[in-house]
Amino acid sequence: MAEITKNLIKAKLLLENEELIAIPTETVYGLAANALSNIAVTKIFQAKNRPTFNPLILHTDSLAKIENYVQEIPRIATQLADAFWPGPLTMLFHKKENIPDLVTAGLQTVAVRIPKHPLTHQLLTNLDFPLAAPSANPFGYISPTTPQHVHEQLGDKIPLILDGGECNIGIESTIISFSHNEVTILRLGGTSLEAIEKVIGKVKVAPHSTSRPQSPGMLKSHYAPRKKLFVGRIDQLLKKYDPAQVGLLLLRDGYPQIPENNKVILSKSGNLNEAAANFFAGLRYLDNLPITHIFAEEMPNRELGRAINDRLKRASAT
Ligand code: TXA
Ligand code: MG
Repeated sequence: MAEITKNLIKAKLLLENEELIAIPTETVYGLAANALSNIAVTKIFQAKNRPTFNPLILHTDSLAKIENYVQEIPRIATQLADAFWPGPLTMLFHKKENIPDLVTAGLQTVAVRIPKHPLTHQLLTNLDFPLAAPSANPFGYISPTTPQHVHEQLGDKIPLILDGGECNIGIESTIISFSHNEVTILRLGGTSLEAIEKVIGKVKVAPHSTSRPQSPGMLKSHYAPRKKLFVGRIDQLLKKYDPAQVGLLLLRDGYPQIPENNKVILSKSGNLNEAAANFFAGLRYLDNLPITHIFAEEMPNRELGRAINDRLKRASAT
């Protein structure tokens, strides 16, 4: 069983021995391995039960290190790096030969980010290789935002979970691509569209899933709870279902007919950053209740509300 610890020396040793460990980031916990080792990266796909056509994000602690693995960093990306790194932003660059095809699923681009979590930052500084790390959940399930979440699902598959407490952003990084001389957001995430546009002006947001997604994270059925999830008009839905069988995921409080224990309030004051930080843990809590359905409210479509709505949409797809 995985040990939950803050011991960076153990963490480093395991990674150097091509083992997997879970690492805290500001967005969600990652399942990390030496990105330059095919043996280590293979273990990620096995532990998560993740299809190998789905590429991984490279994590490191400096722009200087990133230059060892990518061919060229466009000027506009440098502006974004200055504004948002370390932080919840992932950018796609043309890869160098030293990045295994397994990491990029055979693509010519590699996704990179510098995460903002003091413990993981220290770990990355001590390593002489980057870490490949997807979110530390079984493929398709809700992302983990605490060491306990990771332990519940992957505890028997990995030796160590680096304990960095709760993730303070709570949803995955925003992913940006620069192909065809265009800046496109492939996944809405912890860095808001509004914040990005303040720095570089108008950007495109890729539409939701397609059958051939550019970013496989755009696959529709994702982040999904085991319970049936509906998003939208809760008052209408409640008329059709037994309130005792229903859990609610709400931005603010409401619906007094539903018992308190069956409700998750994401932010009493309606703050969307707070809502994002509580989102996955809330969904997970409801998924573990003895109920049959989860009804979720749509968030205001701005700032991190957009990223939450995107995840709700995909979690509710059947
Ligand atoms: O916040 C995050 O980004 C977290 C933490 C652990 O850093 N990581 C994360 O990884 O969310 P994951 O594997 O769950 O999602 C990464 C997404 C996938 O949807 C993958 O398809 C996309 O990034 N991706 C990775 N490399 C890509 C590439 N070269 N081109 C297009 N999409 C890529
Ligand atoms: Mg994921």
